[in-house]
Amino acid sequence: MASLQGKKVVVVGGSSGIGLGVAAAALQNGASVTIVGRSHEKLQAALRSLGASSTVRSIATDMTEETEVSRLFGNIGPFDHLVSTAGTPPPNYPINDTDMDFVRRFVDNKLIGAVMLAKHAVRTLISGGSMTFTSGINKDRPPVPGGSVVSAIAGSFSYFSKALALELAPTRVNIVSPGWVDTPMWDELVGEAKSGFFADIGSRLPARKVATPADIAPAYLYLMESEFTTGETLHIDGGQRLI
Ligand SMILES: NC(=O)c1ccc[n+]([C@@H]2O[C@H](COP(=O)([O-])OP(=O)(O)OC[C@H]3O[C@@H](n4cnc5c(N)ncnc54)[C@H](OP(=O)(O)O)[C@@H]3O)[C@@H](O)[C@H]2O)c1
Repeated sequence: MASLQGKKVVVVGGSSGIGLGVAAAALQNGASVTIVGRSHEKLQAALRSLGASSTVRSIATDMTEETEVSRLFGNIGPFDHLVSTAGTPPPNYPINDTDMDFVRRFVDNKLIGAVMLAKHAVRTLISGGSMTFTSGINKDRPPVPGGSVVSAIAGSFSYFSKALALELAPTRVNIVSPGWVDTPMWDELVGEAKSGFFADIGSRLPARKVATPADIAPAYLYLMESEFTTGETLHIDGGQRLI
């Protein structure tokens, strides 16, 4: 395993939730980290929670805007590992009630955004470095009704990484597929009902709990450090696919 000590890691989505957990873990393992998101306020709050240090900084960027993404990687210069956990709450309409504008915005953000990151990151990502993107349990356990779009998009990431792993070799391209993780996205989705909701779900999982971002971060660290893993989807879901 290659150490993260002294490596440059870019975490798109690093201002919140899973990405913030990855940023904290990468810093603890000796990397210097750039966190990326759209909101300056969220980035500043994340920097405060990570603690003042010369090894962490933020750059505000919307990954759906190509000029911004191009500028982002131009500013960062050569770097070792790209992680993206960026995403927005998914559509959950029964198919006959689908809001097509919402679906287009979701696909643009999640999937097209990842393509855009890969397109521009590859200019300055060092050969032999890695890219890790994020899918999710919805591809294996789609919510019913309303899970068709999120399931299709999450599933597509596994094939995106396989094709890109071949095209960009020896740069490695992988996916983390998390199960349920307690993050601010859930505050937005279920609000005050979150704790009861998670207690119920957690009691049914083999791991007997819903994950924290710190539980998920080691999957990203492994994929950055493992020089022999590419084109892979790493599931870290507390056993949810078994039930
Ligand atoms: N939490 C779960 O249970 C779970 C389970 C499976 C999969 N996932 C997936 O994991 C990913 C992360 O989820 P999370 O729960 O950590 O969400 P989160 O706490 O809401 O964090 C999402 C991050 O993405 C950033 N982001 C969103 N759109 C962006 C854009 N266009 N450009 C740049 N940054 C953008 C957000 O910052 P700004 O809003 O400031 O841009 C934020 O930093 C999502 O794709 C989600 O679908 C989550």
